[in-house]
Amino acid sequence: MASNDSIGQRPENIYPITMMTRQDKETLLGQRGMMVWFTGLSGSGKSTVALGVEQELHRRGILCRILDGDNIRAGINNNLGFSPEDRRENIRRIAEVGKLFVQTGIVTLACFVSPTEEIRQLARDIIGPEDFLEVYVSTPLEECERRDVKGLYARARRGEVKDFTGISAPFETPQHPALSIDTSRFTREECVRQVVQLIITKE
Ligand code: ADX
Repeated sequence: MASNDSIGQRPENIYPITMMTRQDKETLLGQRGMMVWFTGLSGSGKSTVALGVEQELHRRGILCRILDGDNIRAGINNNLGFSPEDRRENIRRIAEVGKLFVQTGIVTLACFVSPTEEIRQLARDIIGPEDFLEVYVSTPLEECERRDVKGLYARARRGEVKDFTGISAPFETPQHPALSIDTSRFTREECVRQVVQLIITKE
């Protein structure tokens, strides 16, 4: 039996002190981690396309993680609203969390309005440009408003939701996205196919 003397001593001869690297993890998974950042208006189809992409990549044996309003704004960011400062903090935390997934070798799909060049640049800087693919879901405002899945556009028009992106808060069109997809002009399958194609060329 171990004597009391050894209790609490670090068994350095048993456990290596270094962490497994990103490369180790990517080799284990047989894939490359990256961040696919979907930006676009509320109701443009970001999460719908990302869900299809996840399904198709999973089928091909590629491990993914979706980050979207459902799992982020309801949890880690449930103290944030939609002022410019809160949106920036929302995106900053998402990018930091997303970076951990990317560095674990996981294809990470982030679906957030992320309405300004500045906050998208912040996300790119945190994650690193070599791991960051911007996908602009360019579905026009009229179509997003027509869909109005959550009834928020109608409420925003009535002045019941303030700072609503596209109505009373700005959305800056991305200047150099890796890909633009308009879900009002192409089927969901076609949009998914295009994003999957983009990811596969970078894998
Ligand atoms: S972001 O601007 O900070 O990137 P995020 O993608 O997390 O926004 O959240 C946007 C979602 O929150 C929208 O799809 C919508 O359902 C909801 N929402 C509630 N209030 C607002 C608002 N004022 N502006 C935009 N989206 C809002």
